[in-house]
Amino acid sequence: MVITTIRNLILGAVGLVLTALLLASAILQLGFFPTNADARPSSLEYKIAESALDASMRRHAPHLANPVAVTPDTLIEGANLYTMNCSQCHGTLDFKPSPLEHSTYPPPPQLLLRPLTSPEWHTFYTIRTGIRYTAMPAWENALSDEQIWKITGFLTRIEKLPPAVKDFWKNLYGISPDAYQRQRAAGLRSRDEDLDHNQP
Ligand code: HEC
Repeated sequence: MVITTIRNLILGAVGLVLTALLLASAILQLGFFPTNADARPSSLEYKIAESALDASMRRHAPHLANPVAVTPDTLIEGANLYTMNCSQCHGTLDFKPSPLEHSTYPPPPQLLLRPLTSPEWHTFYTIRTGIRYTAMPAWENALSDEQIWKITGFLTRIEKLPPAVKDFWKNLYGISPDAYQRQRAAGLRSRDEDLDHNQP
């Protein structure tokens, strides 16, 4: 009697799993699953993906200290490397959002308009190994570790750069991070509404 009940329960569970798999396969094969990248993930999708990403980082990313001395020269090198490799998706140093800001799924965060707050080891690992199922590439085959640390150093210090780096920035792009922050404070620039599309 008990054995029959257990057998029926197991059969029921297997049947349920098979039906779910068949249904999922039908949804995919009949073309109901959207594949366009110009959409915004739902907040539930964001929550699940971000907590999985955080948990994976905690498990895999070594807590390394930045071995590259942080000087105006290395920060400027970081800014140049960022401009050449990353600004196309993450926004340019003239504080304009990337034209691709709504074109990947999930969208690329605009790293100058909303600077990172993560520790350096976290950012280094993200840049080096990329983020699976997103447009964020793993840069380890295109950039050296030293170059990735320089970009990390720059991105981590956008709001506390030494004067020499701010001058360099202003000379090249016509606006320094301080001037941008002043414009934001005066209400002349407001990116929060748009940027919220990139954040859950
Ligand atoms: C082709 C577009 C693309 C390029 C080029 C690109 N990224 Fe990304 N990046 C993304 C996307 C999309 C995400 C968001 C992934 C997600 O939501 O999990 C991302 C995420 C990140 C993050 C995580 C941000 C956070 O909130 O923790 C960092 C850091 C980052 N990128 C740095 C860089 C750097 C540095 C470069 C250049 C060396 C670069 N990316 C080049 C698309 C790109």
